[in-house]
Amino acid sequence: MSIEKKLEDLRKKFRAAEEGGGPERIEKRHKAGRLTARERIHLLLDEGSFQETDKLVVHHSYNFGMEKKRVYGDGVVTGFGTIQGRTVFVFAQDFTVFGGSLSGANAAKIVKIMDLAMKAGAPVIGLNDSGGARIQEGVASLAGYADIFLRNVLASGVIPQISAIMGPCAGGAVYSPALTDFIIMTRGISNMFITGPDVIKAVTHEDVSMEELGGADTHNSISGVAHFAAENEEQSLALIRELLSFIPDNNMEDPPEKETSDPADRTSEELNFIVPDDPNQPYDIRKIIIEILDDHYFFEVQAHFALNIVIGFGRMAGKAVGIVANQPDHLAGVLDINSSDKGARFIRFCDAFNIPLLIFEDVPGFLPGVAQEHGGIIRHGAKILYAFSEATVPKITLITRKSYGGAYCVMASKHIRADVNYAYPTAEIAVMGPEGAVKIVYRRDLDKAKDPESLRREKIDEFREKFANPYIACEKGYLDGIIEPKETRPRLIAALEMMRNKKDTNPPKKHGNIPL
Ligand code: HXC
Repeated sequence: MSIEKKLEDLRKKFRAAEEGGGPERIEKRHKAGRLTARERIHLLLDEGSFQETDKLVVHHSYNFGMEKKRVYGDGVVTGFGTIQGRTVFVFAQDFTVFGGSLSGANAAKIVKIMDLAMKAGAPVIGLNDSGGARIQEGVASLAGYADIFLRNVLASGVIPQISAIMGPCAGGAVYSPALTDFIIMTRGISNMFITGPDVIKAVTHEDVSMEELGGADTHNSISGVAHFAAENEEQSLALIRELLSFIPDNNMEDPPEKETSDPADRTSEELNFIVPDDPNQPYDIRKIIIEILDDHYFFEVQAHFALNIVIGFGRMAGKAVGIVANQPDHLAGVLDINSSDKGARFIRFCDAFNIPLLIFEDVPGFLPGVAQEHGGIIRHGAKILYAFSEATVPKITLITRKSYGGAYCVMASKHIRADVNYAYPTAEIAVMGPEGAVKIVYRRDLDKAKDPESLRREKIDEFREKFANPYIACEKGYLDGIIEPKETRPRLIAALEMMRNKKDTNPPKKHGNIPL
């Protein structure tokens, strides 16, 4: 065969691979407002940077007439490229080929780039759009999933793993994302479930739509499985690019820096007036966060789940930080099952990837109630305590108002290795709020008193005077200083700079046993 013929033959094969399930199926997707796997990759990566791997792989199945249905690439596009000039590995499932389902051959392609990513020390991004294990392949597809799951786990904490859900994903197509660091869903087009509505109807007789069962809003606000909800595919891919800008390539590197013209010594008079005079009046902790971060920019994570804790990324003097903040605007900022889970996982991500933590504390304690106790608040609350305690990245804590009870200990107190602990003059540090304390300590006196209400008020004032301030903690050295709110940014930047070269370790062990 002449070289021209050989080249033409190669191009023909490439064209076939690029067509995936064929022009009609691609047309159908476009009509439904969906992009193809390749279009998604091109939007995700820096222009022209994509290098495809295994473009000509086919499946090896001979059952159910599959031998007559071979498509080059076998339903997944894999390879590597760059985002903002940094190497990333990517796979995108192609729903036009057997519903993006996972075959043995298709799994081997994903496994190959995951192994390369580990060797190269670069993130893996999965664009998931798959009906799960390819039914016609039986155990070969299950084995393929298990191979991927193992790599997800071994890569966890070594290289960042990000999953976008870009279609109806079932079975293994949701368990692999669940093992990764961040999940991004797109409203109206993406679903995640272990078993779909039909199976649920058959087993439990419940009627539920795909969207209600596992749509973007469900997983962003109810289950907490997802971290971001995008309005469309383009936004979902842009979110991945932005997310990576705060994260290093691997656990041996520092996060990339971003130059800023925002002065490190910028003070802000309005910070003096964000925390209300009335200790029971809510306020939005994000106002403080946004005011102090570089360029007033906060990239919030899980913004729709467990609203009583706020987590996300920002930069201080150009360097990435992870924010963990109680949110007095929702349930008074109390710690409960979901907020503990949300906080703990984010803390561990930041710790694994060398991202310093800034903690804002205004918390009346753990949420009381039978539902919380029976739901395992002890076990869940222990996660955030564990996560803060084991974290060895710089930890800087600022108490803006309440720091009551166990929550004082939990929210990166000095005692669990926070490096710098500050408080505003509005801080109240006590075992509990004055009202609750008086009820317990003076119960007998109140029962006997002629005018219990005035005694109650007198004692509450006494408690507030004695304990509802930061000065006792200051006297004991549990706080490093009280700061005027307007100086928050320069003071926190100075603390972060001081801790820039922090090295701390935990005792040698195989791994700890975080309460799960
Ligand atoms: C083979 C599959 C497939 C699968 C879909 N297809 N899922 N082929 N194996 N798992 C094929 C369909 O036959 C169809 O082919 C095409 O993909 C599009 O599927 P539709 O059903 O027409 O699309 P839609 O109506 O959008 O529904 C999408 C879906 C549904 C919700 C994902 O297809 C579905 O429920 N699939 C099965 C999900 C599932 O139960 N998977 C196994 C999970 S077990 P044609 O040729 O007709 O276009 C698993 C184990 C892993 O993953 C271990 C976990 C721990």
